[in-house]
Amino acid sequence: MANMNKYNQQIIDIYKNIKKIANKFPGRLIDVLDCFNQNQFDCKTWLIDCLNQYPYHFKMKTKDSIDIAILGGWYGLMAKIVSDHFSIKPIRHIYSYDYDPYAGQVGRILFPSIEFVEKNVEDLSIADKSFSIVINTSCEHMEQNLLFDTIQKSPEHTLFVLQSNDYVEVSQHINCVESLDSFVKQYDHLLNNIRSFEKDMGKYKRFMIMGTKK
Ligand SMILES: C[S@@+](CC[C@H](N)C(=O)[O-])C[C@H]1O[C@@H](n2cnc3c(N)ncnc32)[C@H](O)[C@@H]1O
Repeated sequence: MANMNKYNQQIIDIYKNIKKIANKFPGRLIDVLDCFNQNQFDCKTWLIDCLNQYPYHFKMKTKDSIDIAILGGWYGLMAKIVSDHFSIKPIRHIYSYDYDPYAGQVGRILFPSIEFVEKNVEDLSIADKSFSIVINTSCEHMEQNLLFDTIQKSPEHTLFVLQSNDYVEVSQHINCVESLDSFVKQYDHLLNNIRSFEKDMGKYKRFMIMGTKK
């Protein structure tokens, strides 16, 4: 008989967690399921693949293990993928910041190994932290001044990985960009060694840039 135990257990665990979320946070169920759709996985897998190939990690940094921040981290899928697949250096801490109190409450059910922090990015004292990498795949949800501010306050050489899109039809998208070129231009006064990427998602385009704080 085929050894299906591990596979079966994974499926059982997923359904157990979905049931737990449905019982404790019924109003969040659809949003949680949306967080695991194909596009969400594709964009996050794309990010980790490109990040593992980015050639300017940690110039001037000699740490053995690093801290990583995910801003607007939702239920923690990005943090989990980075924590499992980042291949350049060991990770000491990975924090998923979100101001939505349910993000951490739900996220801890799904990904108990991730450190969820309930915080508005506006109130994050990033200068006092030791993040080597800051990832924000929620740029389209945040004011541009906040995005600039976060970079400006960060220490030199911090690696920023940003994703946005041109999907203006979604009302929560308050800060879309019209093209990859304009996304790069927004940040070239703040970041060095910029690498830029574009992904056609059908209804919209997803943009990504990586660069080190000047
Ligand atoms: C819909 S989700 C994430 C969608 C995104 N495209 C992704 O790839 O994960 C956007 C998240 O950003 C969070 N968010 C928006 N503004 C924020 C802020 N100022 N501080 C912390 N979290 C914020 C929201 O609470 C939400 O969980």
